[in-house]
Parts: sequence; structure tokens; C-alpha cells
Amino acid sequence: MKKGGLKEARPQLIAVENLSFSYDKRVLALDRASMSIPRGRKVVILGANGAGKSTLFLHLNGILRPKSGRVLVEGQEVEYSRSHLSELRKKVGIIFQDPDQQLFSVNVFQDISFGPMNLKYPRAEVKRRVEQAMEITRVADLQGRPTHQLSHGQKKRVAIAGVLAMDPEVIILDEPTASLEPCLVEEMMQLFETLHQAGKTLIMSTHDMDLAYGWADLCFVLNQGRVVAHGSPEEIFSDQPLLRQNNLQQPWVLKVREKLTAMGLLAASICPPRTEAQLFAAMNCIDSSGMKSNLSPELYLASNTTAKS
Ligand SMILES: Nc1ncnc2c1ncn2[C@@H]1O[C@H](COP(=O)(O)OP(=O)(O)OP(=O)(O)O)[C@@H](O)[C@H]1O
Ligand SMILES: [Mg+2]
Repeated sequence: MKKGGLKEARPQLIAVENLSFSYDKRVLALDRASMSIPRGRKVVILGANGAGKSTLFLHLNGILRPKSGRVLVEGQEVEYSRSHLSELRKKVGIIFQDPDQQLFSVNVFQDISFGPMNLKYPRAEVKRRVEQAMEITRVADLQGRPTHQLSHGQKKRVAIAGVLAMDPEVIILDEPTASLEPCLVEEMMQLFETLHQAGKTLIMSTHDMDLAYGWADLCFVLNQGRVVAHGSPEEIFSDQPLLRQNNLQQPWVLKVREKLTAMGLLAASICPPRTEAQLFAAMNCIDSSGMKSNLSPELYLASNTTAKS
């Protein structure tokens, strides 16, 4: 795990250099934040409430303008003229933390079609994009509904559909799964996986540490507007002092793995599991290596139950 941001000689897809911003001069929402994001990665930005995650995101597609420092996309510094911003937003789409900030059209279909219409795509192409986006986010049945009447979770999915209809290369997801029911979270994560497989770069903030740990391939930690650490999920989530200092919780699979290791049931050399499935697979290894007599009946039952599921 490395302290601070990531700086490399080669231009990255997105680079943030010494970015500072304050809304009202009293609090620095971003304080010389630096980071580099390579193309095609699944990036998670971690940090306590007020750490600066949303403020950072609003800089990545030019909604906010830095007080100092700069943002570069493909090595080009972001410019804030109308035409440059329009180009930037074709490339970098953002799903706001609060969907009420994102949805403003009368109904769902109009809202999702707003972006592609604005980009002046032919009518048939707009329709194709909107229908595809509605299908993957499962909001087609809501298309005639007034946006203000939707539930929070429905609004969130419509907001995601609106960004997908623009087909940006980089998708910023500010707490995309907050307030979604569990099976929709799973569906949403599958959707993000499909987008990742299609070559998109995804940048997400979340307070769900289990989700972040299982999903990301690169993590940044923000604290009071500063990037205080970056690294792989394994590096970040095995650093207990870092987690404590930044009010981040250890994912449950790591807690269980630690407990099993302390009990002598799992070898310390076993690669840390990232997901429930990997943890249970590790537990099944113990089982088949003849150590099952060391497992309590509950644990033994658990490992066997999950092996079947
Ligand atoms: N519109 C605003 N006006 C004034 N201050 C703001 C505004 N939005 C955010 N801030 C302040 O900027 C700082 C960073 O806030 P930000 O919303 O970026 O944090 P965050 O990491 O996204 O938090 P959360 O996890 O709660 O979403 C905080 O101190 C916050 O109070
Ligand atoms: Mg936020």
C-alpha cells in the first residue's frame, strides 16, 4: 500500500494533480488531492462522510472547477468552455449521489433521452440507446411515470440509465447502490461487471466495505480532502491502522478469515479471500485436508452448506 496519490510518468486516462477546492472558504473540501486512474479499471474511492468523494467526482466531469490544481483526461487538461465541457461529458458520465439532482424531465423516458438528444443523435438512435439503457437497468416499465413520483431506488436506476444512454467511456458512480434492495444491488453489480468487460472505466464511491473490497481492483482513500492512501483492495483492507484512522470497517470475509487463522483452522499463507465464495472455498480446503475434526459442528455445517449452494 502506498501513501498519498499515484503519480506515474505515462499519461493516465484521468489524472488529478494537487486539486484543491472549497465551497465557502471555511472548509477545504479537497486539499491538494492527487491521483491517477488507468483505463479500464474498477476504482473505488473510500472515505468517511465529508471526506470529499462527491466533490472530487464533480471535478472529474467539469461540474466544479478547481480553485487550484488541475484535472487531466487522456493527458489533456480539462478546459471549461461550453464546447470543451460538452466533449468531456461525452467521455465522462456521472451518476450523482442524490438522484434528485440528476432527474429533471417530466417523465422517465424523457429524462433518459435528454443526454443523447442533447448530443443531437438521430431520433432512431436516441430511441435505441434509451431502450437499451432502460432494459439493462430494468426501468422500462417505469418509462411513462413522472420522475418526481418514483421511489429513491427507482430514481437511482433511472439516473444510471440516463448516463448509460450517453455511452461514456468513464462512468462515475457516487454511492450507486445506496438504498437499493439487496437483489437489485446484486443486479447493479452484475451490470457494472458487464460494463467493465466492455472496456469501461468505472469509478465508484461507497460506504459498503464488503462491496468495495469484493469489487474494486484499485482503491483510493480520501480524508479531509486529501488522498491519504492508494493500493489494491488487499493492501488497503489489510492495513488496520489505515482503516481505523479513516473510519473504514474491515470487510466481514477478512474478519472471518482472521478468526479462522487465529484458531489454527486456516493457514496464514492462504491468499486472502475477496468474496464469500472464495472464503467458503478456502474453508472447504481445510475440510478436505483432514482438519475437519478441528471445526466446530456449526462451522463444519456452514462450510458444507455453502459448498452445496
Ligand atoms: N454544496 C456544499 N456547500 C458547502 N459545503 C459543502 C457542499 N457540499 C459539500 N460540502 C462540504 O465539502 C466537504 C466534502 O463533502 P463531500 O460531499 O464531497 O463529501 P463525501 O466524501 O462525498 O461525503 P459523503 O460520504 O457523506 O457523501 C464536506 O466538509 C462538506 O460539508
Ligand atoms: Mg458524497
